[in-house]
Amino acid sequence: MDRIEITGGERLAGTIQIGGAKNAALKMMVAALLGDERLVLHNVPRLADVATMRKLIEQLGLTVEALAPHTLSIGGAITSVVAPYDIVSQMRASILVLGPLLARQGEAKVSLPGGCAIGTRPVDFHLKGLEQMGAVIELEAGYIAATAPRGLQGAEILLPFPSVGATEHLMMTATLARGTTVIANAAMEPEIADQALCLNAMGARISGAGTSRIVIEGVGRLGGATHTVLPDRIEAGTYACAAAITGGDILLGGAKAVHLKALLQVLSEAGAECSEEAGGVRVRARGKLQGVDVKTEPYPGFATDMQAQLMAVMCVADGASMLTENVFENRFMHVPELSRMGARIVVHGASAIVRGVRELSGAPVMATDLRASSSLILAALAAKGKSVVSRVYHLDRGYEAVERKLSACGARIARVKE
Ligand code: UD1
Repeated sequence: MDRIEITGGERLAGTIQIGGAKNAALKMMVAALLGDERLVLHNVPRLADVATMRKLIEQLGLTVEALAPHTLSIGGAITSVVAPYDIVSQMRASILVLGPLLARQGEAKVSLPGGCAIGTRPVDFHLKGLEQMGAVIELEAGYIAATAPRGLQGAEILLPFPSVGATEHLMMTATLARGTTVIANAAMEPEIADQALCLNAMGARISGAGTSRIVIEGVGRLGGATHTVLPDRIEAGTYACAAAITGGDILLGGAKAVHLKALLQVLSEAGAECSEEAGGVRVRARGKLQGVDVKTEPYPGFATDMQAQLMAVMCVADGASMLTENVFENRFMHVPELSRMGARIVVHGASAIVRGVRELSGAPVMATDLRASSSLILAALAAKGKSVVSRVYHLDRGYEAVERKLSACGARIARVKE
């Protein structure tokens, strides 16, 4: 397993080009199952999760061709309706093939997902929504077995919580259901609006994506399309934190400030300068940052996917901060690792209280999940001395060329292959 070695203390300055959003690209690859012509996606990041999704949709019969390093062409006929455990257990987003397979083939069998170990992460909203659309669902031997004996029909679905995955799953599936589907209390993440753009280009009739009420008028078939994936706001946010924690100055090339509002507001409150520029978003930090209190919420609130990275920044800010996790239980696995580097953090229930220290010290640490691993990279960039982050396969699920991007800004970082 690869490790990343970082010698901390360098001020980072320069430009980092932000890639396409992992969490949008994955769902668009699934959307290809709905169409009967090829879907061409530009700006697809080269990540382990994308490779896993590729494996899954190839397993279902589609062909995936890389037309260029970040362009995939996906199409062909579905030849299997089974998403096996060995793939689904690697990546939770695999569950999203269930509805599209059901819509196209009338049946599907998908292993119950695994994924990042952050809380229990059930899929009940997904299954209830599909049942409302006419699916008959049974659980057998770790698999979700679904059929649609009378086809899928439009439904009025009220989500108990604005789940990103359930919103995307039900929105996609509803494109091929008979009649109109309304998803109320829908998640409003920009990736959902982008997915709707992609589906509409394929011939779907979706309105309201990006708001809390999405209306989908079912159509008889979807075709192909060409779509460019939006920039990854979590990758951008992570590098914004790299500028903040190192007292640096980074232009996040291609990033969209409108998608980063909550984070930029917090970083500004902490004392960093954040500005929208022609080429993207610039984050500059001069001197010590101040501690701030933040709670995670569904979009447009502060993203749970940025909580671990902000915590790393707060470890070396002046004063105390309180970070409250409202989206996932048990998403503080980075705390013991940050503590090994000298951070002062206590966790009370869903809140972590961070007391800023003058300096972190480099240490061997272990990545426990995707965003936790990026928080350790950030802490290591600021720490005195050398850190070794192991289990970086978590990082490779969500960050492309992290060493190249950071070293171009002056970081002393290298991957050690094993
Ligand atoms: C997606 C993102 C993930 C991000 C999360 C929240 C992808 C691939 N992953 O995950 O990076 O952290 O949104 O922004 O896009 N829940 C239920 N029942 C369900 C579904 C969800 O109780 O059927 C709960 C979850 O346990 C969690 C909350 O709802 O507490 C939010 O989860 P959700 O928005 O669904 O996250 P994901 O789509 O899995």
